[in-house]
Parts: sequence; structure tokens; C-alpha cells
Amino acid sequence: VPSDIRYEDLVITRSEHIQVKPKLDATTLRFGAVYSDHMLQASWREELGWTAPSIDPLSSVSLHPCAQVLHYAVQCFEGMKCYKGKDGRLRLFRPDMNMDRFAHSADRLTLPQFDKVELLECIKELLRIERDWVPDEEGFSIYIRPLLIFVTHPFLGVCPTREAMLFVILSPVGPYFPSGLKPIKLYVETQNGRAFPGGVGDTKIGGNYAPTLLPQLNGTQLGCSQVLFVLQDGNPGGGLVGESSSMNVFFLIQQDGENRELELVTPPLDGLILPGITRDSVLTLARGFGNMKVSERPLRFNELEGAAENGRLLEVFGTGTACMVQPVMGLVMKDQTEIVVPFNNEAAEYWLAKPPGTAGLPHSSAGEPLSVCGR
Ligand code: COI
Repeated sequence: VPSDIRYEDLVITRSEHIQVKPKLDATTLRFGAVYSDHMLQASWREELGWTAPSIDPLSSVSLHPCAQVLHYAVQCFEGMKCYKGKDGRLRLFRPDMNMDRFAHSADRLTLPQFDKVELLECIKELLRIERDWVPDEEGFSIYIRPLLIFVTHPFLGVCPTREAMLFVILSPVGPYFPSGLKPIKLYVETQNGRAFPGGVGDTKIGGNYAPTLLPQLNGTQLGCSQVLFVLQDGNPGGGLVGESSSMNVFFLIQQDGENRELELVTPPLDGLILPGITRDSVLTLARGFGNMKVSERPLRFNELEGAAENGRLLEVFGTGTACMVQPVMGLVMKDQTEIVVPFNNEAAEYWLAKPPGTAGLPHSSAGEPLSVCGR
């Protein structure tokens, strides 16, 4: 029987080069640019199963140029976070959901399955070793990136996975966007799609991210930090609102009827949308508030435009592990017309009131590059 990942088999080799930890300043600590000293890794072969997992000094990976991941993008990943509380304890945010989603993405690409509980135990050990890397300031955390790749021996045919490698790396982070948690603008992309019916929009695979780069670049030129994908599905109504390249999206709309009911809307998990863990958390919290209707339903762009035109689009925000809850202040079309969104929400106010350099508002965000890579 091929072996599975087991915590009790974990082999630990400590790094001799412990780096200086970065200063927790949102102006200098760019998302995903600094990594901790160690990584977790394991390999898998069809006939043998998983090797013993190990924690080793962070190092580069050597791959044959014909490794399948490099050609056919057979890989999936996760984004999880761990926080250090005021009591000094480390707390993972709903990691069982990440493990489930990781397994779902892997399954879709024939990447190997793994014991989710045991893998999580190994990740916890990595975090214990790197506990000094976990930030203890509000708005900062350590971002955990599990990655699973298909590395079969040189073979260019397209075939199911025979050999794979798993890595988990850690990166101390603050806000995802260089402008901090200040409200951002989204570029409305109606031509280049992110997901389509029957596709893989509900998986966390690299292939869902690469095609967002061109729209992202176009959006950056119009002052937008991210893209909002609107799918032209041939039905009337201006297209189906989907998600952003790295966030699920929420809209607070005041209904037109007599009682002006508030409705918080996000697109449903219909196979086109990534089942975000922050999305799920926001839905659960909002349902608990009891002061608004909370809907997972298809949303057409014309409805949004209509609501904005008569002042009923009250709030827009994105959610994601990396971006947390990100206020949005505008939806910009290709012809540069803009739906201006009020951002009179408490989250935005809270962060705007924070001193420069904290997670909320960097010193010199005005005029700074807006996109993550600084373009
Ligand atoms: C995450 O939110 O964890 C993601 O993977 C998004 C990624 C673009 C940073």
C-alpha cells in the first residue's frame, strides 16, 4: 500500500542561517516578498506514495526542463494565515477548510491526495519552528503557501500525475495591496474571462491566475488595483458578475421596494467562483448580524449599474485570505466611465484613522504604484 503523509515521520533539519526578521511596516513589507528560514516538503510517486515529510532550510528547487508542471501547469496551491495573539499563541484561521480545498484542487488535476489532518500537523510543526516569524501586530500575519506540483520524469505527453512534489513556505505579510487597506478601484473586465461553465473556476490552480494578468495590466493603466470579471454568457443583463483575480466580491445593495431592505449579495458557488474561506466567514457573520438579507445569488452587471445610478449601491468589498476584507471605491469600465462606490463603511474608516506605516495606510500611498508587483 503506498504510504501517506504522516506527522510522526517528519524529519527536521534546522537552518544554520537564521535571517533578520523584517520590520512590520506596511510601506516596506511587500506582500509575499520575504520568506521564513524553513520549508516543509515531501515527494510522491504513484507506486510508492508519499516519502517522509521533512522540514528543511528554505532552498531552491531543481526541476528537469520537461517537468510537466512547467508545460501544462499541473499544479495547485493554497493560501492560509496564522496569527500571533496578544497572549503569544499562534492561531490558524480555519485551516481545515484550506486542506479540503487543496484536496479538491489536487483531485481535479490528478495530483495526489494526502491525509489532510496529518499534513496540517506538519504545517503546525513548521509554524512552531518559525514562531518568531509570525507577526504579532494588528493587520499582519504569516501567510502559508502550500504548493503541489506534477514533476514526472522527462515526458512531454499529457498524462495523469505519476510523480509530484509538495512544498509549504511561509511569508510574513501585512496588507496585500501596496495602498494598504485603503479602498481600491476594480477594472471591469467583460472580454477576457476568468472562469466559464464546466471549467475550473472553483479550484485554486495557477491556471486560473495567469490569464488574469493581462486584464490586470489594462486595469492598472486606468488606476485600478484589481479586475472584476464579468462573464458574457449570452443572456441579457450586461453579464454575470464573477470575482476578482484574488478576491471574492460582495455588494451591499438597498432594494428598490417599499421597505428599502438591505441586501448583501455575492455570486453563488456555481463552479465559477472560488469557495473563499474569508467569503464563507463574511457570509456567516453577516447572517448573524440579522439586519440585512444575505444572498448568494447570480448578479447581473445591469443590476449593479441600476443600483448605483439611484444611490442604492451602498458598499463594495473584496474578501480573500491574502487581501482580507478590502474596501472598494470604484468600478472602472474600459471606456473609463466609473461607478463610484461610497466607502462610508466602518472598516475603511478604522484603517484610514490608523497612523502611517501600520497595516491600514502606508506613508506615501498617493501616487504609488497600485498593483501588487509595483507596475
Ligand atoms: C489568497 O488570497 O490566498 C490567494 O491565493 C490570492 C493570491 C493571488 C495571493
